[in-house]
Amino acid sequence: MTEPVIPSSRARVLSGMRPTGKLHLGNYMGALANWVKLQDEYECYFFIADWHALTTDYAGTSEIAPNTIEVILDYLAAGLDPAKSVLFLQSKVLEHAELALLLGMSTPLGWLERVPSYKEMQENLANKDLTTYGFLGYPVLMAADILLYQPDFVPVGQDQQAHVELTREIARRFNQYYLLNGREVLPEPKVLLTPSPKLPGTDGRKMSKSYGNTILMSDPEPVVRQKLKTMVTDPARIRRTDKGDPDKCPVGDLHKVFSTPETLAKVYDGCRSAGIGCIECKGWAADALVLVLQPIQGRRAQFTEAQAVEILEDGSRRARARAEQTMSEVRAAMRMPLAARARR
Ligand code: TRP
Ligand code: SF4
Repeated sequence: MTEPVIPSSRARVLSGMRPTGKLHLGNYMGALANWVKLQDEYECYFFIADWHALTTDYAGTSEIAPNTIEVILDYLAAGLDPAKSVLFLQSKVLEHAELALLLGMSTPLGWLERVPSYKEMQENLANKDLTTYGFLGYPVLMAADILLYQPDFVPVGQDQQAHVELTREIARRFNQYYLLNGREVLPEPKVLLTPSPKLPGTDGRKMSKSYGNTILMSDPEPVVRQKLKTMVTDPARIRRTDKGDPDKCPVGDLHKVFSTPETLAKVYDGCRSAGIGCIECKGWAADALVLVLQPIQGRRAQFTEAQAVEILEDGSRRARARAEQTMSEVRAAMRMPLAARARR
C-alpha cells in the first residue's frame, strides 16, 4: 500500500541529524529549537540519518539503534510534532539508497575529496579507518537525503553549509544530464542558515559530544546543577575578592543565552565588582537552564519508547510516499522506466 501524497502549497524544508546519542543543549539551540519554529510555516521533513552513522561506526554498530531511539525522543521532547512534521528514519526509506547510488554515478571524485570535513574528520578520528568508499561518499548520501524531497530549504548550522553547497552542485550536474519533458527534476535547495548563539560546554570550549562537556536535554536538575558547579569561569577570578568579567567567562555566555535581562544585569554588576561569588552566579545560570529544560523533559516523559518507534514508522511511511514521487520522476528522466515497473 502506498500512501497518498498530500499536496502542499507551503515551501518545503528538510533536515536531519546522525544518531550520536542523547542530544545536548547545543543541538537544541543550534538546530532543534529552530526546526520547531519552522513547523508552522513550512511543510517539514526531519529525519535521523542512521546510515550516515555507519560511515564512521561501521566497525561497531551496536549503539546506532539505541541512539536512534534517544534522538527521536529528543526530537519529540524539543517539540517536533508528528502531526505537523514528517519525522522519519533514513534506513526505512530505501529510496535514499537508490538515489545515492544514481547520484554517485555522475559525482566526480574530486568534488568529494575536496570537501573540507573529509580530511579533517579522518585526522580527528585517526583511531578509525575512514579510508572507505562509504565515508568518501557521505556527501552523496546526504545529497540524496535532501534532493529526494525536492525541498526549497535545508535548515542547517554553518558546519553543514559546505555539504548543502555540494548538494546543489550534484543536483545541477544531474539536471544537466537528465531532464523530464524539458523540466529539471532535482531543484537546487537553498541553505537556511540556523542562527546559533555561542554555547560553551562546561570546559569553556564549544559544547560538543566529542569534548565530553555537554549538558543534555534530558539531564535531570541535580545533574545540571552539578555540571554547572564544575564549569570553568573567568580565570581572573581566583579568589572571591577578585573582580571578573562575564564577557570572559563561559558561565557569563550561558547567562547571555538563557537568563532574563534582570539576572544578566545582576551578573555583570556583581561579577565586575566582586559583589557576588561564582557559586551564586552559577546557581542562577542553573536556574535558567532548568527553566528551559522543564517543558522539554515534560514532553519527553509523555512518550514511551514504543510510541516513539511507532511515530518513526508512521513518518517513514509518509516520507516513502513523497520519496517515491521524486524517484518516479528521476527514473523517467534517466530513461529507466523499467526500474519503476519492476517494483510493483
Ligand atoms: N550531516 C548531517 C550532520 O552530521 C546529518 C545529515 C545527513 C543531514 N543527511 C542530511 C542534515 C540532510 C541535513 C540534510 O549533522
Ligand atoms: Fe563567571 Fe559569574 Fe564567576 Fe563572573 S561571577 S566569573 S560571570 S561565574
